[in-house]
Amino acid sequence: MSTAGTDAYTGEAGLPGGVARAVAAARRAGFPYSCRPEQGRLLQVLAGGARLRIGESGTGYGVGLAWLAAGARPGTELIGVERDPGRAAAAAALFADAPHVRVLTADWTELYVHGPYDLLVLDGGGQGKGGPAADPEELLTPGGVLVVDDFTPADSWPPLFDGRPDEARLHWLQHPALRAVDLPLAADLSSVVAVRRHPE
Ligand SMILES: C[S@@+](CC[C@H](N)C(=O)[O-])C[C@H]1O[C@@H](n2cnc3c(N)ncnc32)[C@H](O)[C@@H]1O
Repeated sequence: MSTAGTDAYTGEAGLPGGVARAVAAARRAGFPYSCRPEQGRLLQVLAGGARLRIGESGTGYGVGLAWLAAGARPGTELIGVERDPGRAAAAAALFADAPHVRVLTADWTELYVHGPYDLLVLDGGGQGKGGPAADPEELLTPGGVLVVDDFTPADSWPPLFDGRPDEARLHWLQHPALRAVDLPLAADLSSVVAVRRHPE
């Protein structure tokens, strides 16, 4: 988890309005773990390709969800899931005037109830980092895109984490239902971006 996510917005100009409001809410609450601007811009771009539905686990104060909403086409539904009630309420308040954006107070597994998704962002639960990994065949439409945030760029194979093979990253990069890349977004940040393969 990036500890400098919220602080990374200091001095960032030209943010979408919803993103600026979400960052302000995270700052007021002293929440440091918002997604970084580099990740947010990736989400904004990818959201434009989603047709019907976008999902996010671990919505926090809504910074990533606001980037997604800023990039999504009109008519796309967005669902964020956050297990902390205070964070979920703050994020929901940001989107009170946007009925196509819903924030649910729940464990990330609630995403199974509302899917499948054209774009799924795993940022709090389901990443396979110390807990169960989301099932892309259940949660993604064929051709749907998965983003798993918050890795460190690797220059070795297999990628290492704390000197050992990074099992969470390998899970996604080698998943038989996905084509995946580890995409560096900054010197200290990468995301796995994957597409669910179409059935043979
Ligand atoms: C890295 S922060 C999320 C940042 C947020 N996505 C953003 O873009 O600003 C991770 C969030 O995931 C939430 N979380 C952790 N485990 C979860 C779970 N099992 N189900 C739902 N939310 C979870 C935490 O409460 C925390 O708010």
